Amino acid sequence: MKTLTLNTFAAIAATLAIAIPAAHANEAKDAAAGKLLVKSDACFTCHGVSAAKIGPSFEDIAKKYAGKSEDAAEKAIEGEIKGGVKGTMMMAHPSISANDLDEIADWILSLKK
Ligand code: HEC
Repeated sequence: MKTLTLNTFAAIAATLAIAIPAAHANEAKDAAAGKLLVKSDACFTCHGVSAAKIGPSFEDIAKKYAGKSEDAAEKAIEGEIKGGVKGTMMMAHPSISANDLDEIADWILSLKK
């Protein structure tokens, strides 16, 4: 049992060692993780991938930022998710981590490509 626990720990440590440096190097990987976050954060209640619901579709959000640099687009989207859009049903997510925000923004922006 002790060996199993150590092996499990080693496996988790190895996964983290691979995942952390790749977080910024690999946008595709970020985007995949971002999609999972969007699912678990219930964003799909109000945003479809291609269909508008209560809020705009994620494809339309990606399109809106198509003319901006990747950096500017990511910053704007991250700000809207974290701070919300005042006066609308888009609520703030003040406790979301910077890493999660980055992954979600990468996923949204990947939809325009
Ligand atoms: C209760 C419904 C609701 C939920 C849940 C929700 N949103 Fe929204 N969201 C909206 C609405 C409505 C707008 C449009 C606000 C406006 O009129 O500008 C919006 C706007 C946005 C925008 C800005 C779009 C733009 O025009 O630039 C982003 C990005 C966004 N949402 C991402 C998310 C993400 C990511 C989540 C999950 C963490 C989420 N939303 C959860 C309703 C929601």
